Amino acid sequence: MKTQPWPYPHIVAHRGGGKLAPENTLAAIDVGHRYGHTMIEFDAKLSKDHQVFLLHDDTLERTTSGQGIAGQQDWAALSTLDAGRWFSDSFRNEPPALLAQVAERCRQYGMKANIEIKPTTGQDELTGRDVALAARTLWQGQVAPLLSSFSPQALAAARDAVPELPRGLLLDEWQDDWQAQTDELGCVALHLNHRLLDEVRTRQIKAAGLRILVYTVNDPQRARELLRWGVDMICTDCIDVIGPGFSA
Ligand code: G3P
Ligand code: MG
Repeated sequence: MKTQPWPYPHIVAHRGGGKLAPENTLAAIDVGHRYGHTMIEFDAKLSKDHQVFLLHDDTLERTTSGQGIAGQQDWAALSTLDAGRWFSDSFRNEPPALLAQVAERCRQYGMKANIEIKPTTGQDELTGRDVALAARTLWQGQVAPLLSSFSPQALAAARDAVPELPRGLLLDEWQDDWQAQTDELGCVALHLNHRLLDEVRTRQIKAAGLRILVYTVNDPQRARELLRWGVDMICTDCIDVIGPGFSA
């Protein structure tokens, strides 16, 4: 596999605005932009009526005013929820965001995107396909969003639906067959929990022609070390400390 020209910056704001805003909302993207970030990561899944929207968990309780499994509810109901109040009163009434709204914000701000495909349990293939198809349409004329997922099934479905969108395999635990998996899925990147990485592994992954994104790096010293090793992208919650100008 050859290393492609890489259009993405070194620093990525996790869930839009890191720790400074309610995750996966338009308000979070606004905060990320205000801190100068030029790329965001966020989590995308399907509503019951197949709308692509942003939410990390399968269930609504932690980050919205709703209850139950998000993927079992239609967008008409999800769109009335409050996804900001749990974080602070100043974000009260912030609704969940549709992928289409996020694409528009990215266009407005000239921001690049890492769309993490986060299927509701059991909906891996459907979600991978629908997110990839929506992303292709919504990001037309912009730098292609980088798709990623912990789910190989979702990535395979994204690959089959829209092969030209770049893909990264997410790993939270080390897997010795990372190269076979990324080859099979046609990935351009490996997205790793930064705790899995050392200098030797960094060299091996780079030698295989893959880019590396690490999450979630909130210690500037660790971020510098990872960049020195040759890690391509740092995904951070500390968007005020590890900002766009940050370097090794
Ligand atoms: O995509 C990197 C990171 O977001 C993966 O973990 O749980 O924060 O979605 P999580
Ligand atoms: Mg994520």
